[in-house]
Parts: sequence; structure tokens; C-alpha cells
Amino acid sequence: MTDKPVRVGVVGFGYWGPNLVRNLDKLGDVELIAACDLSEANLAKLSALYPYVQTTRDLDAFLADHDLDAVVVATSAPSHFAIASKVIASGKHCFVEKPLTLRSEDSEALVRAADQAGVVLQVGHLMEYHSAINWIKDCITAGELGDVLYIYMQRLNLGKVRTEENAFWSLAPHDVSIVLYLLGEMPDHVSANGAAYVTPGVHDTVFANLHFPSGKMANIHVSWLDPHKTRKLTVVGTRKMLVFDDMQATEKIWIYDRGVGAPDSALAYGEDLTLRFGDITVPWVQMVEPLAVEVQHFIDCCVSGESPRSDGRDGLRVVRVLEAADESMATGGAPVSTSVGV
Ligand SMILES: NC(=O)c1ccc[n+]([C@@H]2O[C@H](COP(=O)([O-])OP(=O)(O)OC[C@H]3O[C@@H](n4cnc5c(N)ncnc54)[C@H](O)[C@@H]3O)[C@@H](O)[C@H]2O)c1
Repeated sequence: MTDKPVRVGVVGFGYWGPNLVRNLDKLGDVELIAACDLSEANLAKLSALYPYVQTTRDLDAFLADHDLDAVVVATSAPSHFAIASKVIASGKHCFVEKPLTLRSEDSEALVRAADQAGVVLQVGHLMEYHSAINWIKDCITAGELGDVLYIYMQRLNLGKVRTEENAFWSLAPHDVSIVLYLLGEMPDHVSANGAAYVTPGVHDTVFANLHFPSGKMANIHVSWLDPHKTRKLTVVGTRKMLVFDDMQATEKIWIYDRGVGAPDSALAYGEDLTLRFGDITVPWVQMVEPLAVEVQHFIDCCVSGESPRSDGRDGLRVVRVLEAADESMATGGAPVSTSVGV
């Protein structure tokens, strides 16, 4: 496959699929061959933009007829497992939008199937390809912040109110993938509280705590019942503190040289703690469209056979955390184990 373009097909051309197709179409090492969607209207939109792409509503024919190397799945989440299972069973590399599936056991099955078939399985954890998040990861790895103590994240807005999935499944996949990526660690348990103020039974506001084996802690607050549009991440380290504000157009990352000084050992603990206030720095980070980086990475992995940054196991870990948050909310906030089987 190295010299020939990767022959790609797409399933799902609703709201998000067009963004994937636009980025795939720009890649020199990709040949966009075919698209499948249940909606004739959406296929007509695709044909108007990409007349050379063949379209069908029949997934089996789509997989059988076009000698595809790889398939990108951008359908609604409940259909991911069935569609990705067929793609993998047909021996094609598979990119699935987030969340990988709605149940961790289905994600485990996809991971095993991809391993057995020897195909690449990548999940659309877009933020792992975001320039600022990768800058922050490098900053943490380089020890700039000291040891990370805790992280908290807020993804808030008024709307869009959804009725099928709760706010955690709708909004938090990105935050969970970011925190697992930055810490390089899977939480051992999750406790969450939420409330369904708008639609009975569908939590619109959720506070989740992730507890890590290292002692680190992360809190994720999501809501579509909030006056502010907020997408913020705060990392508190032993040396410095960092804030990432994704609502800012340019100055997205702020680093605070602040902390609490150690006590003089001659005194009792707490008697001479000193607050340290140093410089605030705003680094310049060159922004590249994360989706362009993400799809190029998928194609590179299809060619090399390497496991993607956001591989099936990463997708499984995120699904398990989302699922554990649901289980915890159902019990009024009890800690729920997040262990996974593969
Ligand atoms: N990475 C991101 O930032 C991001 C943003 C938005 C959506 N998404 C993800 O993208 C996926 C799609 O979301 P959306 O908002 O575009 O949904 P959507 O409902 O707008 O579009 C889904 C499309 O898939 C088609 N479809 C559904 N079931 C199908 C099936 N069985 N076979 C063929 N086609 C089928 C529908 O007809 C529709 O055209 C979801 O997984 C969502 O979480 C990711």
C-alpha cells in the first residue's frame, strides 16, 4: 500500500461527516472512493460537492463493491458498534467517531476483532490532535509544572439540549480523552453526581471525579444549562499552574508561576506556608486544524500498520469512564471501578 493512495470510504454524511470528508479529500495520499448513508438527501449533498465519489444506502454493497483499504464511520453513536464490526470483519482499517461505542463490552469486542483482523482501529478523539493539548502534554512531560496534582475541566453552555444521551456522554468524551492522554493513566474509579433539570431522566448537568492510582485527581463539569459558553482546563502542579481556555482565539494557554512554599521544618506544619506569586506567561502556539492532523494520522497508520494515538484501547478506556460515571450517578455518587478487559 505504500506507493498507492489509500482507498477510503465514508459512512455517515450528516453534521460531522462533511468535515471529515473535506479533510480527507485534501490529502494527497488518499483516494476518496465511496460513501454510504441511509439518507438520500445527505448523499445528494455529498454528490454535489464530490461528484466522483460513488454513493449507496446499502452498507454491505458499499463494503463489497469498492476494494476499499479504509473506512471512516461518522454515523450517530448507537450505530457505531454494528457498522465498525462489519468494516473490521471485511478486513478494512476503521476510523470511528467518538464515542467508540455505547457499551464498554462492545468496545472490547471491536478491539479484539481489530487485533485478530490485523487492521487499524482509530477513534475520533479530536482533542488528542489539538496543537494546544499537545503543547500542554509536552509541557507536563518536560516537568515544567512540577508533578501534576490535579486537573479540572469545564465544558458548559446554554444548549444544545439533547434528549437521547445525557450531557456526560454528549460533552465529556473530549474531556475524558484529554485527561487520560495528559496523565497517561487510567483512573481506578469514578464517582459522579448529576441532575436532570430539563428533560426527566436525562442528566443535563454532571460533576464527575476521576481518581487515579498515582493519587492524582480530575474533575469534569459538563452542562447544557449554564449562562456561559466555557471550555476550560486547569492543571495544578507542584511548581506551576496552567489554564487552557479554548474559547480564546489566540491566547489559549496561560502559565502561572504560583504555588505554596514548603514550611520551615523547625515550625509546626502550616505555620509558615508561603504563597508564591511569580510571572504569568502566555506561550505562542501555532494552531493547525486538529481534524486535518487526526485524519492524516489515520492514513499514516493505515500505511505503516502502527497503532494510532487514539486507538481502540483508548476508545475503550474513554467509554468505560463514561459508563462508570452513569453507574455512579445511578447510585447517588458511589465510586465505580473502571477496570477494562483488554
Ligand atoms: N469529533 C467531534 O468534535 C465531533 C463533533 C460532532 C459529532 N461527532 C461525532 O460524529 C458522529 C456523527 O454525529 P453527527 O452530529 O454528524 O450525527 P448526524 O445525525 O448529523 O449524522 C449522522 C449521519 O449518519 C447517517 N446514518 C445513521 N445511521 C446510519 C447507518 N446505519 N448507515 C448509514 N448511515 C447512517 C445519518 O443518515 C446521518 O446522515 C457521532 O459519533 C458524533 O459523536 C464528533
